[in-house]
Amino acid sequence: MIAALCLIATAHAQTNMLWLNDSCNVRIASATLYSDLPLKDATEKVIEQEIAAWSVDFKVAKSPKGANFRIKLDKNANLGAEGYMLMPNDNRGYTIVAETPAGALYGTYAMLRNINTAASMDMNPQKPAFQVRILNHWDNPDGSVERGYAGRSIWFADGKINFRSDIETYARANASVGINGTVIDNVNADPKVLSSEMLKDIKTVADRLRPYNIKVYLAVNFSSPAALGGLKTSDPLDKDVIDWWQKKVDEIYALIPDFGGFLVKANSEGLPGPMDFGRTHADGANMLAKALKPHNGIVMWRAFVYNPQGGDRAKQAYYEFMPLDGKFDDNVIIQIKNGPVDFQPREPFSPLFGAMKNTQTMAELQITQEYLGYSDHLCYLGTMWKEFMDYPSFHNGKSVVETTLNQKLTAFSAVANTGTMKNWCGYVMAQSNWYAFGRLAWNPNLSARAIAKEWVMQTITKDEKAVNTICDIMMQSREAVTDYMTPLGLHHLMGWSDHWGPEPWTDIPGAREDWLPRYYHKADKIGLGFNRSSKNGGSNAVEQYQEPLRTMYDDPQLCPKELVLWFHHLPWDYYFNDGKTLWQSLNDHYNGGVEQVIKFQKTWQSLKGSVPESIFKEVESKLQVQLDEAQWWRDGCMLYFQTFSNMPLSFTPKYTLEQCKAKLRTKAYVDRQKD
Ligand code: GCU
Repeated sequence: MIAALCLIATAHAQTNMLWLNDSCNVRIASATLYSDLPLKDATEKVIEQEIAAWSVDFKVAKSPKGANFRIKLDKNANLGAEGYMLMPNDNRGYTIVAETPAGALYGTYAMLRNINTAASMDMNPQKPAFQVRILNHWDNPDGSVERGYAGRSIWFADGKINFRSDIETYARANASVGINGTVIDNVNADPKVLSSEMLKDIKTVADRLRPYNIKVYLAVNFSSPAALGGLKTSDPLDKDVIDWWQKKVDEIYALIPDFGGFLVKANSEGLPGPMDFGRTHADGANMLAKALKPHNGIVMWRAFVYNPQGGDRAKQAYYEFMPLDGKFDDNVIIQIKNGPVDFQPREPFSPLFGAMKNTQTMAELQITQEYLGYSDHLCYLGTMWKEFMDYPSFHNGKSVVETTLNQKLTAFSAVANTGTMKNWCGYVMAQSNWYAFGRLAWNPNLSARAIAKEWVMQTITKDEKAVNTICDIMMQSREAVTDYMTPLGLHHLMGWSDHWGPEPWTDIPGAREDWLPRYYHKADKIGLGFNRSSKNGGSNAVEQYQEPLRTMYDDPQLCPKELVLWFHHLPWDYYFNDGKTLWQSLNDHYNGGVEQVIKFQKTWQSLKGSVPESIFKEVESKLQVQLDEAQWWRDGCMLYFQTFSNMPLSFTPKYTLEQCKAKLRTKAYVDRQKD
């Protein structure tokens, strides 16, 4: 079939096009498209443009006769609001069947992807696993991006909406992987985003994204009624407050009829919330949900909550939310970070997944590499997310991701890594994580490697050997980063506030204890790690997991080694089943991570000539930065731990402990924030 389409390889270089990059596209010699879509449908225009962009000779046919591409709308196809099916047609091409223009759009992208990656066409009906597949942008009205490592905001500048000329590239990229929602502002929300002036401009954004089947959502500040509306309170049970939100929601829908809804961070890290008024998360979420309900809007209410008095931080979300199980309205969904602390290189899954039996839940992943080397370290997250998604929760035999399916409302979210830098993500390799998130939100059963391969073939090269080599690096990359930063279940060892570089030693006078690394690593003369077991004064966080996980995590001999210091404080000379002591294991992992980056560098050199020169050079130079920072992490952490263990290192450090400390807050960090 593909041969019949007569494909032509091209070398048509363009920048900024992400995986839609022309230089990696094959060309369809001649495409004639016939479409059943209602005339003037904006999505139909997009479909035409997409196929045209791939074709040397493109025509719109007046009838299906002779058209090698056909969009067929069939209301009875049983494909749902966004599904599609690809079928070979009599004219040696493909017919895309869908019930809706959105389904036809996704079918078009799938067909083009399959052609472009020489994948065999799957002729089975395709439907997305999650209804809402959404990016969370942590962008502020002033144009800064919280935890952004790719320049300034793509949405805001100087307190206003930034009307980018190339927002369609963003929209195409999202639609091509099935992402259908975007929260354009930071969860630490500025009440200003709900001002009438701002909403009028957000309408323009929504209008431009709509043809790509992308809905706009807003993160809102819970105290907006007081802060923006001038009310005396923002108490969710106060009548004026309820009225204020209702009017605000009506105002939004008058401008944006398909507005998606609200994302709320409440009573978390100093932000206001219903508990400020003696109310619960459910009171707050339901009040907003009721205002949105008549318009089919939803509330994504975050479970990222903890406070310094609450005991073990890893246990707190569970304690706060479990008593509210069953109390949320049906257009509320609780958005839970993958791990119980905060997007660390490795965490166990949050025990809230599967635990709330009568509450809708969704996962929040992080694409931006806040704790994973920013946009400088090659760290493909497909493997990390699959580890989380496929992990057995032991709730009714479901994997973690399955606990968020089969709800009336289903959703899957991730914190975006986009910015105004030319390549959108600050590093070509970081684009793969945006791509992988979208593909997994559509189909959680895809393998991390299959996704990596698709992305490489569309972005970098189609040379088979090179594709495999790059995929090998990507597949090993997250483990390497975990090894040189936080192996064996260590976590939160990074720099204060900027979260960059190693800083296990930090002591900020007066700082919250649960914001300091020592709260998490608990290094002392005896050993290392956080005792979250049920024994020896442990926090007993293990009790929040189902059996057999509870028993397994509770015993250091049974606990998976990669999580052992998350759950246990172990002596430096503790012996694991593999015959190694804790100290030796730490040495091996930290140094192994560095060695791995050196291997990546060598392997990358072997690709010279088989990948575009600009990409070759970019990765080559970023790997050099990564190596230096891996050595810095290894040396900083191990030399610091050595002050407690007094045991010898089994590698030669590049830096002294003093040099590691001095490296922080250098010009390099500041440079990363630049456009
Ligand atoms: C992390 C991150 C913050 C962010 C918070 C959140 O703590 O460092 O910048 O606001 O997560 O997810 O709300």
